[in-house]
Amino acid sequence: MANFKRKYPLSRLRRLRSNKSIRDLVAENKLSVDDLIQPIFVKESIKEKEEIESLVGIFRHSEKSILKEIEELVSLGIKAVAIFPVIDEDKKNEKGSEAVNENNFLNNVIKTIKQNFPEILVIADVALDPYTTHGHDGVINSDGDVDNDETLKILEDQALKLALAGTDIIAPSDMMDGRVGVIRKALEEKGFKNTMILAYSAKYSSKFYGPFKEAVESAKFFGNKTKDSYQMAVANIDEALHEVALDINEGADIVMVKPGMPYLDVVKAVKEKFQMPTFVYQVSGEYAMLKAAIEKNWLSEEVIFESLLSFKRAGADCILTYAAKEIAKNL
Ligand code: PBG
Repeated sequence: MANFKRKYPLSRLRRLRSNKSIRDLVAENKLSVDDLIQPIFVKESIKEKEEIESLVGIFRHSEKSILKEIEELVSLGIKAVAIFPVIDEDKKNEKGSEAVNENNFLNNVIKTIKQNFPEILVIADVALDPYTTHGHDGVINSDGDVDNDETLKILEDQALKLALAGTDIIAPSDMMDGRVGVIRKALEEKGFKNTMILAYSAKYSSKFYGPFKEAVESAKFFGNKTKDSYQMAVANIDEALHEVALDINEGADIVMVKPGMPYLDVVKAVKEKFQMPTFVYQVSGEYAMLKAAIEKNWLSEEVIFESLLSFKRAGADCILTYAAKEIAKNL
């Protein structure tokens, strides 16, 4: 703040706003395709892709259509995708056992993607919610709560199977205590030295995940329960820094804040405090909200770009967003 003594008219801030060229030259933040990661849903036993009602322009892909989608993303310069499976109901159970099947649907899809597009980075969640009949991210104990340490054993196995399938970036999204350490140790021991961990570190117990539950068809399993006993309380920010510190010490390569727009203060605090690669997830409800207002002509399409640039301004290095493809086309 060196020039704080300057006054109008010597200082006219509008000079640097007077045309697009100068505005571009002095822009403090820019959005590029290297900042964008596309989340993709892939569903077992469908032949054609199906649109997700609450996520305009986003589909549940079939094993086949996901390859076409990835081809398009690669051609647009997108470098990473986060793949979320929609699992057949008859494969779900209380323990989410299908998650640790080496040849489960997701692992097979990942193998095919990496065979066809070795250059795209595949991110996959570690959490049991796609596989459990109750829709929680872990297994339930006799008190009816998600059992931390029992869940860790399963998550470790799930992570190893994902790494074996060729997943480049393992993303624990389950919020169990100690999971990053357990997964890192297992990866090291089994020779997956370059498998990266993107920790959903500050993951809030948010209502903004609603459309995601429709997308992965877990809404009816989950009902109106909450994940409050493991995901973070929305009131807290010191706790987010504590979570991030633990995940870094346990071996995370990248940390993440989720949701995005309602938590820009957290993104900024995490980046400033730790100077770690920091990603942010613009979640399903944020995208749905923007798209709904755009569809009604209450907002113009540019709000999406504006929302993404706000993440850069807050300090995020990279953004998971359902709008990655459409924005990449316009950049
Ligand atoms: C699974 C998971 C969720 C999301 C990403 N991974 C849902 C949840 O935790 O309830 C939400 C993503 C979104 O809303 O776009 N643990």
